[in-house]
Amino acid sequence: MERRDFLKALGALGGATALSALPLPGLAASFDETWLSGASGDFAPLAMSLQGNWPKQLTGTLYRNGPALFRRAGEQQRHWFDGDGMVQAFRIGPGGISHSGKLVRTEKYQTEQQAKRFLYPGVGSQRHGAPIAHNDSANPANISVRRFGKRYMALWEAGSAYEIDPDTLDTKGLVSFAPELTHLPFSAHPQFEPDGSAWNIGSLFYNGLAKAVIYRFDAGGKLSRYQLIDLPRDGYMHAFALSERYLVLFNTALRYQKGDSFLAGLRFDGASDNQIILVDKNSLQIHKVVSVPASFAFHLGTAIEEKGTLELTVAEYPNADIMLKGMDTRHLGQQPYPSAMVRYRVDLASGRCQRQALAVDLEFPQFDWRAPYRRQTQFGVASTQKDRGLGNAIAAISPGNHIQLHRFDDNTAVEEPLLVTARDGRNYLLHTLLDKTRLQTGLALFDPAKVQQGPIATATMPRALPLGFHGAFYG
Ligand SMILES: [Fe+2]
Repeated sequence: MERRDFLKALGALGGATALSALPLPGLAASFDETWLSGASGDFAPLAMSLQGNWPKQLTGTLYRNGPALFRRAGEQQRHWFDGDGMVQAFRIGPGGISHSGKLVRTEKYQTEQQAKRFLYPGVGSQRHGAPIAHNDSANPANISVRRFGKRYMALWEAGSAYEIDPDTLDTKGLVSFAPELTHLPFSAHPQFEPDGSAWNIGSLFYNGLAKAVIYRFDAGGKLSRYQLIDLPRDGYMHAFALSERYLVLFNTALRYQKGDSFLAGLRFDGASDNQIILVDKNSLQIHKVVSVPASFAFHLGTAIEEKGTLELTVAEYPNADIMLKGMDTRHLGQQPYPSAMVRYRVDLASGRCQRQALAVDLEFPQFDWRAPYRRQTQFGVASTQKDRGLGNAIAAISPGNHIQLHRFDDNTAVEEPLLVTARDGRNYLLHTLLDKTRLQTGLALFDPAKVQQGPIATATMPRALPLGFHGAFYG
């Protein structure tokens, strides 16, 4: 897209790119004090204790990001999405495994650090402590961390990426891919082609608009194309999937109108529909829109094109209560908001769609990024506790829907499992976990073919990290 055309199409936004600012009453934290509000500063390198058989060939760094700083001057951030981001690094080498973590020095963090209090609004936190110039004024850079070419970036979704130094975890600064794209939404879930090139979306839903930016990067991490597209309607899209020919968007029925807070402006429209939107990779235009019943999802798995059909995997919730109620930091993990792994099969000629829900909760779905178009086992966090939130198990679901589950202790919170590759080419499944009894964060390593047998190796440390969202492993 030409810059002139982009700016013209974007014109309707005017000065509306700032998140609406909303008031939040001071709320006392009732969530587990020791780890929700615990990361007030950086974590210096600490050696972990190893158990089991860590493969010698597995070397590299697991980077993770998540909201970490939830409290300043006695004030508690109310929504899980509102903590300032911290990038964690678990460095796996011949000498063992060490952990370190550093808060992302966003413009928001630095301004609030100087003021010694929160100034900016978040998803569930209304404040007017400082002027909002644009979306990045309130950007906590707290959802994921990914590498584009040689650049490592801490990602949010309603604004820009922040570049970080992979060795020191220092923040290098806000990333602008092009002047006209500065401060625009950039999702925390870029998708990568087998050749290392990448795609991303930015949903302008946050501004009450039904538009999205499509970003295309070459294998060196350089932006090569971008396009602003009109969507059939507004809706929340946290992630998207990649098929051979399409970007597969899943426009949910969570809609936004200005409210007393950003959260209060969100409304789940159960009478509406969800839309599976296929964006053609060549034209960057919408090829097809398929209407399916209203639901909610953060994350998508694989999107496989085969014999005229597209099979999309979704970690689906029946409604948006998880976002609207379940991520309240006062109640986090206390109520169940089960998601199901759902497979949608779309007939690409007729647009007809079948929906199949599997009998397994699933969040943080993962698969082999190196072969995204191959039908394959997918992994994720599951919960076997019907009366509680937060996952306590690792699930592996084969293409034939055979489910393997490894359940940890009920006082263990399990985080996103990643398929990682050792130097000898072998794949492992690696994830972090929080032992809520011992207040220790640890690592667990699985043979991905034998998830049910439990971890083959673990690592522990006397350090409890706030629960995070996403990351990546780079060998
Ligand atoms: Fe996510």
